[in-house]
Amino acid sequence: MTPPTAPASAALRHLRDASVRVLLTNWTGGSTVPSGNLYPHQWSWDSAFIAIGLRHLSPRRAQRELETLFGAQWDDGRVPHIVFNPAIPLDAYFPSPDFWRSGTAGREAGAPRGIETSGLVQPPVHALAAWLVHEYDPQTSSRRGFLRRLYPRLTAWHDYLAVHRDLAGHGLAAVVHPWEPGMDNSPCWDTPLSRIVPAPASSFRRADLAHGAAADRPTDLDYGRYVRLAAGYRDRRYRDGGAPHPFAVEDPGFNALYIVSEHALASIAEALGEDPRPHRARARALTTALVERLWDPQAGMFLCHDIGTGTLIPERSVTGLLPLLVPGLPTGIAEALLRTVTGDHFGLGSTTALVPSYDLRGPAYDSARYWRGPAWFNVNWAIERGLRQYGAVPEADALKRAVLVSAGASGFAEYVDPRTGRARGTTDFSWTAAAVLDLLATTPEGTA
Ligand code: SER
Repeated sequence: MTPPTAPASAALRHLRDASVRVLLTNWTGGSTVPSGNLYPHQWSWDSAFIAIGLRHLSPRRAQRELETLFGAQWDDGRVPHIVFNPAIPLDAYFPSPDFWRSGTAGREAGAPRGIETSGLVQPPVHALAAWLVHEYDPQTSSRRGFLRRLYPRLTAWHDYLAVHRDLAGHGLAAVVHPWEPGMDNSPCWDTPLSRIVPAPASSFRRADLAHGAAADRPTDLDYGRYVRLAAGYRDRRYRDGGAPHPFAVEDPGFNALYIVSEHALASIAEALGEDPRPHRARARALTTALVERLWDPQAGMFLCHDIGTGTLIPERSVTGLLPLLVPGLPTGIAEALLRTVTGDHFGLGSTTALVPSYDLRGPAYDSARYWRGPAWFNVNWAIERGLRQYGAVPEADALKRAVLVSAGASGFAEYVDPRTGRARGTTDFSWTAAAVLDLLATTPEGTA
């Protein structure tokens, strides 16, 4: 790995212009598509990361991004992972609205009328995004009543997680499908997914392979299992209680983002003159549960917990490093996380310039395939903040430079080979551009 050198100021301006172009192109009038070809609708956690970047371009548009997403919130509080654009043909993306059937299968759970959505969720980054968007331009935010309108929706979303998704009864939120933690094809899911009988490949038609190399995407066998699980959840009318879920995992990254967003809810409550204490109390309780349930001292990182077997999943995924974002971790844990990021398994600063999505030494490591090794820009944005929070400033500075250089050089790739920086997946990816815009805002020209 060659250490990234500082981009010169003209290069920084060019990078900013190019990121702005990606976000302007991918804006559809009320929200932003993650990618014009591969993901032509609105995705939940994408929109949160996009809003964080978009605030530097148009605070109003960033607010709108989140408002559009929460306009599709279900009555039970869940924020669906996809909000479909009715103008896009059904065959442009699979699974399409006729698979999810939110209007009928989701009726009991309170799916909105007149908008088609999926019934799964994605990591709750939204309160963090809303707070950062507000902080950037409090005047526009207050004038538009942005926080005042969003706050009850954000609290209903977190209440959904607390009430319906604490499947093991220890406080942490569980995910019921590999698409929910956002890291769809992580090797962490291989064992719990192996218990799922795949839907036959002939029963569905993937649209993703028309826009990405098959070697960069999940296999048909994995897709068959995703389809079976999603159809099963739909057929139980998206109910979370009752019979155990065939796939139920506590994911450290999902819960870390939940905790950080709960802290953001406390800040939002304070700004609105509401009581922040319940949010702080929940954030503290979640942090305790995260450490008690998911910390693995041998691995020096957090692991996923398979609720089906009651055991930790012995795979090192970057999800287990995302708790670096959580404030107030016990000192020994924060120090161990810093050692693990820069150690042999993730190689930051020695064999890699960006943190890979999975263990470089793991048996399932694949530098190209979706979430099985490549580095992602939203995740590296989060790790950069986490490193800074725990005092690893030189490492955070180097990671920031690497994100900027690699995003620009890869054409705003969806993900990159963590050793070579080669672009993988699709390009002109919205959250990659958003991460760049946000990091550039704290990068004075010539000092990167
Ligand atoms: N990320 C998933 C996909 O590849 C589902 O949201 O379509």
